[in-house]
Amino acid sequence: MIVVTGATGQLGRLVVEGLKTKLPADQIVAAVRNPAKAADLGVTVRQADYNEPETLTAALEGADKVLLISGTELGRRVAQHEAVVEAARKAGAHIVYTSAPKAHDTALILAPEHKATEEIIRESGLPFTLLRNGWYHENYEETVREAAQTGEFIGSAGEGRTSSASRADFADAAVAVLTGDGHQNKVYELSGDTAWTRAELAATIAEAAGKPVTYADLTPEQHQAALVEAGLPEGAAQFTVALDGNTKDGLLGETSGELRALIGRPTTPISDYVARVVKSA
Ligand SMILES: NC(=O)c1ccc[n+]([C@@H]2O[C@H](COP(=O)([O-])OP(=O)(O)OC[C@H]3O[C@@H](n4cnc5c(N)ncnc54)[C@H](OP(=O)(O)O)[C@@H]3O)[C@@H](O)[C@H]2O)c1
Repeated sequence: MIVVTGATGQLGRLVVEGLKTKLPADQIVAAVRNPAKAADLGVTVRQADYNEPETLTAALEGADKVLLISGTELGRRVAQHEAVVEAARKAGAHIVYTSAPKAHDTALILAPEHKATEEIIRESGLPFTLLRNGWYHENYEETVREAAQTGEFIGSAGEGRTSSASRADFADAAVAVLTGDGHQNKVYELSGDTAWTRAELAATIAEAAGKPVTYADLTPEQHQAALVEAGLPEGAAQFTVALDGNTKDGLLGETSGELRALIGRPTTPISDYVARVVKSA
């Protein structure tokens, strides 16, 4: 039996859909904090909140494999993930975790909670697989939409590259690991096949929108001021600027080929994603 946490989220839903093409639905459990949201999934649903350990023990009972989809509450995630690992330990399950690029050794602003979770998983003694997911194309939806409208977007990532892939690509990798053999105690650095600069993204949006689009590269201070001026809260602006700094430093730009290898096909090109967003705008 395979249990997927966060199964009502965007990645989780795609994973459940993928699993249903490979396994009978009664061998798939969606562990979700809000079962009402999971009514359409078509698999067994169990209630499970990362903040309530007893729900996790019950939800993971009988699991052979568990996909722990990292949570969304920054700052609380280590304790939450630890509770899921403890429930997996009680079930004696193989745990698969959605981590971040080079989580063990990177200055990426989001990495510390992933690094701590990876350590907890290793210390649990359970068989594990670490899916170090790179950036989703979907993170740039708003950028693409706005740039296609206004003809420009801003940032402070310089010439830094981003090796993004679609959420569906990462979901397919999780399905491959959950349903395949030979992934025990492996660490996968997952990324898109190609890495693009912001200027290249501007050209891609321009092509899809049929009009000129430019990228204005700012200093971190200018970027921060512009985001706050546009109405973003101070903290969210700092986070965005820090991520652009990480991008500039190359922390989100490696192309390992491991995602392509796991899913057995090329990753979705950013140009396909941009075309889809521009068309739907
Ligand atoms: N690689 C990237 O570019 C990238 C980008 C964004 C996020 N992420 C990470 O990848 C994860 C999956 O991405 P996503 O796009 O699927 O995010 P998402 O759509 O926000 O899904 C997050 C899932 O986590 C569940 N969750 C949050 N807190 C929980 C709790 N206390 N107990 C139980 N479940 C809880 C949510 O439940 P509900 O459905 O009830 O809300 C949701 O199902 C995110 O959670 C985040 O850690 C990665």
